[in-house]
Amino acid sequence: MRKSPRQQLLEHYRAHARDLPWRTPPGAKAAPDPYHVWLSEVMLQQTTVATVAPRFDAFLARWPTVEAMAAAPLEEVLGQWAGLGYYARARNLHACAVAVAGRGGFPDSEAGLRALPGIGDYTAAAVAAIAFGREAVVVDTNVERVVARYFAIRRPVKDARAEIRERAAFFYEGVDAGAMAQALMDLGATICRPRTPDCAACPLADTCAAHAGGDPASIPPRPPRKARPERHGTAFVIERDGAIFLVRRPEKGVLGGMAALPGSAWRDGAPPAPAAAAAAIRHVFTHFALTLAVESRPEPPRDVEGWWQPRDRLAQAGLPTLYVKALAAFDAARGAPSLLP
Ligand code: ADE
Repeated sequence: MRKSPRQQLLEHYRAHARDLPWRTPPGAKAAPDPYHVWLSEVMLQQTTVATVAPRFDAFLARWPTVEAMAAAPLEEVLGQWAGLGYYARARNLHACAVAVAGRGGFPDSEAGLRALPGIGDYTAAAVAAIAFGREAVVVDTNVERVVARYFAIRRPVKDARAEIRERAAFFYEGVDAGAMAQALMDLGATICRPRTPDCAACPLADTCAAHAGGDPASIPPRPPRKARPERHGTAFVIERDGAIFLVRRPEKGVLGGMAALPGSAWRDGAPPAPAAAAAAIRHVFTHFALTLAVESRPEPPRDVEGWWQPRDRLAQAGLPTLYVKALAAFDAARGAPSLLP
């Protein structure tokens, strides 16, 4: 008898599963630690597996349990998150750790997980399935693409979410949902790739409607790119005795609560004609692109609270990428070696 597409995919996963630090191998007796699964799933939203893997290990080395993370001050969690972007995730991570530690462990159902701070539909389904063996339909962007192709759903994903979700349930019927979720994610990441699907290697090719149609890369259609608005501002490098003056950004808004160089407010529009700044960098956020001039200043601005961070301990300050880039450009413009990682 022919194997079902579900069985073919799960067999492929058992043979080819990526070896990732938060996983137990497919078929392993012990389920992975819910703390590891939760932490990895939060980190993997908007961030690639290659970036997350070493950072995941560093988080676990620092906070081996959810209780240990809950006991840490928020600033330390934000600092450890530096460079991963979307800092609301780190804030939610800490709030969730506090809630989980407070109730004595992770809830083991999708509904229980969804009630925790910062856990949405996707994370609740993924943790319930992968860590607790629950039935769930886990759908992230990789799974959306696989399902849209398999059933040749030709509408943009944002218009077809409900249909994709319904169709995704086909894959999860009667199987280990945690294994299926990861099988679909691995397939999406390594074979059913956005621009260059490798149908020759795909265990689902025989029954895939997009493959039969001859142009799988055209599904799902890509939405037209929106122009990103421009903003500009200035950051100040203020140095004294081998230390740099840093501030903490306001809790709300972009890079909320993160360590930062002091500077001007960011204004709308492209930067004015080349200024006399020592250096300038451009950094692309989700909703806008920022050009930041970087200038030397002799003194901290008055009435601004901050601290002196020794240059040889800058890596411990938890500076987000924007300011790491700004300082590196400033140092390069002066011909000074950068002490940044
Ligand atoms: N992306 C999100 N979650 C993942 C997981 N558990 N394995 C691989 N890629 C993922």
